[in-house]
Amino acid sequence: MNGKVFLMAASDTNVDKTGLQVVGNQTAMDADRSFPAAEVNPTVEGTDKVSIRNMDFFYGQKQVIFSLNLSVKTNQILAIIGPSNSGISTTLRSMNRLFELNPESRFQGDISIDGKSIFDESSSVTELRRRVGMVFDVPTPLPMSIFDNIAYGPRLSGLKNKRALQETVEEALRMAVLWDEVKDRLSTAAMSLSGGQQQRLCIARVLALKPEIILLDRPCSGLDPISTARIEESLIELKKQFTIVIAPHNVQQAVRISDRVAFMLMGKLIEEGASSEVFVSPKDQRTDDYITGRFG
Ligand SMILES: Nc1ncnc2c1ncn2[C@@H]1O[C@H](COP(=O)(O)OP(=O)(O)OP(=O)(O)O)[C@@H](O)[C@H]1O
Ligand SMILES: [Mg+2]
Repeated sequence: MNGKVFLMAASDTNVDKTGLQVVGNQTAMDADRSFPAAEVNPTVEGTDKVSIRNMDFFYGQKQVIFSLNLSVKTNQILAIIGPSNSGISTTLRSMNRLFELNPESRFQGDISIDGKSIFDESSSVTELRRRVGMVFDVPTPLPMSIFDNIAYGPRLSGLKNKRALQETVEEALRMAVLWDEVKDRLSTAAMSLSGGQQQRLCIARVLALKPEIILLDRPCSGLDPISTARIEESLIELKKQFTIVIAPHNVQQAVRISDRVAFMLMGKLIEEGASSEVFVSPKDQRTDDYITGRFG
């Protein structure tokens, strides 16, 4: 195994019906655990939902992303991994033009969704941010009830009908795997939820806006393993309807849930490919060193 994260092929006898089983190693992976790795998408390559082309990014004079070319496939989970300061958050924030809130920042290149540039003059940034929802590392519930947190966005966009709002809230909470835990207390304060529940609430809030793409920047940072597992479970379910890009909590999380993985280092894309390939036999020594925990 040569110290690598090891994913066995789907034809292997030890593999369960989720498709792949992972045997970790002692350094980066927990050797005693079999990861229920992501269901492998039957369309191996898939179509491009998002394409980042020749992206350079600057904060003031400092360049932090260099000639990035990266695609996100429809209905797959792309994990972008890398050590601190690799430019992962910057890349995520570019996909819904959130970086524009920082006047010091400058983007060069292009990003398209379904073949159309997100910078096209005819595109609305508000509509882009609805289509490309974002979940951050620290859950940020609004100081209102659980119900109102989810209904807030749809109400702002004009949904008034009480029944339609109730349906939207229930559907979003179900998709975020939170419904069963909160259905009897929708009118209580969202702040009273646990950290893991608050994060699923934030995912539900994004889902209520019926996005196409969900960006998650280390959504499980501060969460316990059970809450983390719940969120991972919901993401694997959500990719059937949405396209997901995640800056994972750690390499193991990428192994568990991603279809494809991109490894970034100091603002450059080092390697990208199917997770079943990159985690088994990375092409670049730096990827190998990172995923086996030799640096990070
Ligand atoms: N608002 C900002 N102003 C100036 N420099 C910034 C700003 N945000 C990020 N940077 C710099 O840009 C580079 C990339 O940062 P980014 O947050 O995208 O990396 P990251 O891979 O998400 O790292 P982390 O592990 O810390 O989340 C870093 O060198 C960082 O210091
Ligand atoms: Mg970051």
